[in-house]
Parts: sequence; structure tokens; C-alpha cells
Amino acid sequence: MTVGGFQAQQYQLLDFGGGRKLERFGDWIIDRPSPPAEKASRSAPELWEQAHLRFDRKDGLKGKWKLIKSDKPLDFGENGEDFPSWSISYQDHFQLHLNLSPVGHLGLFAEQAENWHWIMQQVQRLAKRQQEPVKVLNLFAYTGGSTLAAAAVGAHVTHIDSAATSINRARANADSSGLGNASIRWIQEEALLFCQRELKRGNQYQGIILDPPSYGRGPKNQVWKIGKHLLPLLELCGELTGQKRGFVLLTNHSPDFSSADLEASFADAIFGSCGAGARARRMTLIAQTGQRLDAGCVVRFP
Ligand SMILES: C[S@@+](CC[C@H](N)C(=O)[O-])C[C@H]1O[C@@H](n2cnc3c(N)ncnc32)[C@H](O)[C@@H]1O
Repeated sequence: MTVGGFQAQQYQLLDFGGGRKLERFGDWIIDRPSPPAEKASRSAPELWEQAHLRFDRKDGLKGKWKLIKSDKPLDFGENGEDFPSWSISYQDHFQLHLNLSPVGHLGLFAEQAENWHWIMQQVQRLAKRQQEPVKVLNLFAYTGGSTLAAAAVGAHVTHIDSAATSINRARANADSSGLGNASIRWIQEEALLFCQRELKRGNQYQGIILDPPSYGRGPKNQVWKIGKHLLPLLELCGELTGQKRGFVLLTNHSPDFSSADLEASFADAIFGSCGAGARARRMTLIAQTGQRLDAGCVVRFP
């Protein structure tokens, strides 16, 4: 079992260095760009010959996929969209479908696995001391790993994402994980707007999870900029958990924020200046060589 809780045949960081990382996603070994691996040197250069697929950036974030090695011939466009999807499991809790995307994403940020474990523990801790279900809000919920982690242990989850494609993929993940009938509200909405409306409606949550991108768009093209909108969103999260706060989890991959910046914003917005109980730290992926690759920042309460 790897540190985040994936079994090695499901997900494994094999090696990194020279600005790239080599990962196993089920049967496929993939070589992709990784800015945090820029200054590292590879520990196991021979492993890189095992890569089946390689992604290279062309302009900005977009790039092209290339099949390097495969038992059977596969014909797909360089943007990866015609590549057949496959799935991997997170322990026996849920499954995630993976696809090649034109920006090099697959539908999973593996560093989140440690957070899924923590979310499950938090929901179970809260559920033990109350009759009613634990209510969790997941913002920028993407393909739903955190939603499924919370739902797998009985939380009632509200899943917010601005993109219909992300919501459809998350629903498919829930269905194939046996969580199709779990209590999950799937809502396509802009995160800040949803929180403002939810507060007006008087709804409260015990747990909030948020993984905001640096830049995003709402369904009506509303612009999300982390530098401008994160603080007001965290303030709303503070108010939405004001009556019965059980946990809050913020993750971030933007190079513009240090862990100290994020912890300070989180503490100020949610607790006022006292900041009790918020802790920030770097997220890392641990390679099978034992080396750690930086993978953004997490702030958790408690
Ligand atoms: C999970 S975040 C990506 C975080 C990732 N770690 C990164 O830094 O790129 C991406 C998700 O947020 C959604 N999203 C972007 N802007 C949004 C907004 N303003 N409101 C709600 N969801 C948004 C996208 O549709 C996508 O599914």
C-alpha cells in the first residue's frame, strides 16, 4: 500500500526528475510534465523505458499525447480524447474513471488520497456523536474523489462544480462505485455564488472541502481568480459552518500562495484573528524510491 492509501497496482509514483514524473495508473505507466520536479534528478532512469504514454506541452497548458509502448495498437488523436477510458480503485471504497485530457490531466489528483482518508475519519468521528447524518459541502468538486470518500462513510454531500463534464464524470464514478443511491446533491453552479445563496437560505454544513484552481469559470462564464475570490469564499465557508463546525479542508496548487499565506487566510476568514486549530502543510507524493515530490498545500481544521 502506498502512503496515500492506494494499492501499488492502482496508483504509484514510480520516479520523477528533470521536470517530469513517471506514474502508474492501473495498467498504464505515464510520463508527464511536473514543474515541481524541475530541479530533481531521476533516481531510477531505467524505469522510464517502461512508460506506455507520454504527454508533452505544446502551447500554454495544452499539449499532445503519444503512445510509446502498447500490447495492442490503439488509434487516438493527439489530444487524447479518443483514448479508451479505464478505472482505478481507492482501496475498496470507490472507483475513479480515468481519461486522457488535452491539458495532461487524467481525472485524479493522487495527492488527494491522504485527504480522502482524513475526510472519512472526520465524518466517522462526527457521526459517532449524533443521530442525524453529517452534512458535507464539496466545492470545485471535479471528478468527485472527496465527495465519494465522504459519501462512502454515510455523509450527506452537496457536490458543486461549474462544469457539466466534471459533474457527469463524478456521477459516473459514484455509479460504478456502488454509491449511485448515496445522498449526494449534484449541483452545477459557481462556488462563490452557491455559498452566498446557501447562506441566505439558512443552510449550514458540518464539513466543507474546497480545492480551488488558480483561475476558473462559473457556468455563466463568471470569472474565478484565487487571488481575488479565495478570501471572501473562505469567509462564507466560516459562516456556513458557524453553528456546528466539524471540519474544513482547503487544498491548493497555485504557486502564488505559500503555506503560511494560505494558513493565515484560512484562519482569518474562518476563525477571525485568533486562528485556533488551522494547520497548513505541503502535500507530497512519495515515489517508490522514497523521494518526495511537492504537490501543493493543504490546510485542515481540526
Ligand atoms: C478541482 S479544481 C482543480 C484543482 C486542481 N488542483 C488545479 O489546481 O488545477 C477544478 C474544478 O473546479 C471547477 N471550477 C472552476 N472554477 C469554478 C467555479 N468558479 N465554481 C465552481 N467550480 C469551478 C472546474 O470545473 C473543475 O472541475
